[in-house]
Amino acid sequence: MTIKSNEKKKIFIVHGPNLNLLGTRDPEQYGTLTLDKVNTAIRKKARELDFEIRIIQTNHEGRIIDLLHRRRKWADGIVINPGAFTHYSYAIRDAIESIQTPVVEVHLSNIYEREEFRSMSVTKDVCAAQFYGKKVDSYLEALEYFCNRLRG
Ligand code: DQA
Repeated sequence: MTIKSNEKKKIFIVHGPNLNLLGTRDPEQYGTLTLDKVNTAIRKKARELDFEIRIIQTNHEGRIIDLLHRRRKWADGIVINPGAFTHYSYAIRDAIESIQTPVVEVHLSNIYEREEFRSMSVTKDVCAAQFYGKKVDSYLEALEYFCNRLRG
């Protein structure tokens, strides 16, 4: 018999559209790390914090929604960088609002100091927290947030 409280906490990480191009995509905003390197840093941090993690990247809005639904019971927490969907996807907002799992929004860049349209996040209000502007460290801060939240 397994004792639930001794199990590793599980975090699901979703990278949204165009984040597969990290490394070459606008390095000033997003940094020089490729997505593989970003994921390596995330995995290292997750090991330190004793989290079990799954990471996916997709360019498709519906797939993000399907994955939020599918992983909602598996995950103790979800970290999402919705990319440009952040600024207009009410469907992703509704998906986040519809699941009980806490979701944290992250951005590599500082969305509040860029083009006007980026300063509006339609997903922020239904997320438990938002970390932005620190490149890969935004994701690492999200993992630390879950470490504090899930372990008190
Ligand atoms: C982003 C910011 C968004 O405005 C942009 O569309 C992205 C990446 C970020 O991580 O800074 O694709 O979410």
